[in-house]
Order: sequence, then C-alpha cells, then structure tokens
Amino acid sequence: MSFFNKDLLKGRVALVTGGGSGICKGIAESFAAHGANVTIVGRKLDKLQEAAADIKKKTGVEPLCASADVRNTDQVEAAVKATVDKFGKLDILVNGAAGNFICSAAQLSYNGYKTVVEIDQIGTFNVCKASFEALSKTKKASIINITATLGYVGTPFQIHAASAKAGIDAQTRVLAVEWGPLGIRVNGIAPGPIGDTEGMKRLGMGMPEEVINRGVPLGRQGTIQEMANISLFLASDAASYITGAIIVADGGQWLFRPFGPNRM
Ligand code: COA
Ligand code: NAP
Repeated sequence: MSFFNKDLLKGRVALVTGGGSGICKGIAESFAAHGANVTIVGRKLDKLQEAAADIKKKTGVEPLCASADVRNTDQVEAAVKATVDKFGKLDILVNGAAGNFICSAAQLSYNGYKTVVEIDQIGTFNVCKASFEALSKTKKASIINITATLGYVGTPFQIHAASAKAGIDAQTRVLAVEWGPLGIRVNGIAPGPIGDTEGMKRLGMGMPEEVINRGVPLGRQGTIQEMANISLFLASDAASYITGAIIVADGGQWLFRPFGPNRM
C-alpha cells in the first residue's frame, strides 16, 4: 500500500545512483511504482541487472541499467546521455552512491579517506554537474542527495564519511541557490540506521539490534520504504516550494544523549 497516488511521478524520468541495492534500489522501485521511468547506476552491471529484473517484476517498469563509477566523469556523462537518449529527458536525480566502513582516524590510510570522499562527495558533484544541462531543460527538476547525520556530532570511526556527507550538504545548499532560478530544486535526506542495508551491516559493528534501538528515541531502525516515501515527496510537485532542505529521518537518533532525561 502506498501513501501516494500511483500517478504521482507519471511521465517523469529519474536517474538514481546506487540504485542497484539497498535504500536507493527502494527509491528507484518506488519511483517506478508511481509512474516514472528510471535509470539505475552503479559499478557492477550484473548487480544492476538483477535489481532491474526485480523492479520490473514488482512494478512492470523496466529500469535502464547504466554501469558507471561516479568517480569517473566520462562514465557519469555516458550514464546521463544514455538516460536522455532512451527516455527523452531527465527530471529527477538521486545521488545515493556511497562507500563506507568503520575505521579510526589513526588507522585510516590516506587513500582510505580519499576514496570515500571521492565516491560520496566528489561523486555527487560529478553527477549533479553531468545532469545539469538535462535538468535545466525540464521546468520541474528535483535533485535528492542522500546524506547522513554523522558530521552533526563527532561520530567516531567515521571521519571519512562524516566529512564527505558534510560536503554533500554544502553542495545541496549551494546548488539550491545557484540552480533554483532554473527550476531545479535540490534537497537532501539524512537517514539514520536503516534495517536490512549494507550500510547498517557495516556500521552496526555486529551489535544486537536491541542495543542499536536503545539509541533511537523511536525505538527501532527505519525501513527502506520510509526513505523511499520521503524521496517520493521531495521528487514530486507536493514539495514544489522546498529547496535546500535536508530532511533528517533517523527516529531522533542524532539528538539523543544516552544519559538525557528521556532515558532516565
Ligand atoms: N578499513 C580501513 N580501510 C579500508 C577498508 C576498511 N574496512 N576498506 C577499504 N579501505 C581502504 C583500502 O585499504 C584502500 O586504502 P590503501 O590503498 O591505503 O590500502 C582504500 O580504502 C580504497 O580501497 P579499495 O578497496 O581500493 O576501494 P574501492 O574503490 O574498490 O571500494 C570501498 C570502495 C572501500 C568504500 C568499498 O567498501 C565499497 O565499494 N563500498 C560500497 C558499498 C558500501 O560501502 N555500502 C555502504 C554505504 S553506507
Ligand atoms: P548500499 O546498498 O551499499 O548502496 C550503495 C550503492 O552505491 C551500491 O549499490 C553500490 O553499487 C553503489 N556504489 C558504491 N560505490 C560506487 C561508485 N564508486 N560508483 C557508483 N556506484 C557506487 O548501501 P545503503 O546502506 O543502501 O546506503 C545507501 C545510501 O544511504 C548511501 O548514500 C549511504 O551513505 C546512505 N545512508 C545509509 C544508512 C543506512 O543505515 N544504511 C544511513 C545513513 C545514510 P556498486 O557496488 O555496484 O557500485
């Protein structure tokens, strides 16, 4: 059951990086279920094809698979071109491609830090820039950057991803101002711990779910569908006056202090 009309994104075209798995596959599937054509982008073609077959089975819409590394600007430009060639335009861009792992700053190699910043932060810029011309031709364009709350506080063992996501948030705000006059809205979603995802597998450090949930005022992990619902809203005309906003969807996790009054 969807909260939204099934024609919410009818006729729109979306490109979703990271759309081959996890949260962004859920976003791509929800866009397709609400009338959009979608391109999913990731490095591994076989993974994209498997995701596309699943999305087609569930929605009837066959996504275009564009294999590209968001660090490689030629590949990114080719993915955007393939989308416009196949579907005629581009209205919605979701930047979800990311890499992460747990590592202390002292142990992290120079290249480890650089790699995550290159995928998350620079990758987001690359895809925004490559999509700009196509997005500026449609009058109702929407960019959604998938970020995180890691840099809002001093999240340990996350100096690489916290820095990269803070950079993405800066891009969200700058592009909202630069591209707003062209009809391109730019917003972010900052998920908290989302169940059944690679991100949680990597960052949960094997902790029992019950322990993780204790740090979330709403008492549970979020779902991929909940993140997809926010994306549907931000991509649609329902959010037509929203730009430069970063919606935190984390059950209150980042605000919570273990010894705060709400847990006493
Ligand atoms: N701990 C510490 N350093 C690590 C690491 C880990 N778990 N995993 C990789 N690195 C370091 C590597 O050692 C390397 O640095 P070095 O050359 O100094 O040794 C650097 O990071 C790059 O690693 P490499 O494997 O070459 O990068 P890649 O571009 O092939 O892959 C990653 C990128 C590392 C982010 C990989 O985990 C990935 O592809 N992740 C995508 C999925 C994902 O992370 N999902 C969760 C999203 S929240
Ligand atoms: P995921 O399934 O691993 O998704 C990441 C995707 O990015 C993968 O499909 C991967 O596919 C793709 N990718 C990685 N490096 C890439 C590159 N260089 N070029 C192109 N594509 C690349 O992880 P997830 O947990 O769903 O996370 C999705 C997004 O949500 C990320 O932006 C993450 O930071 C954010 N987030 C997640 C959580 C959470 O709890 N899971 C919390 C906060 C924020 P390939 O390997 O095929 O390239």
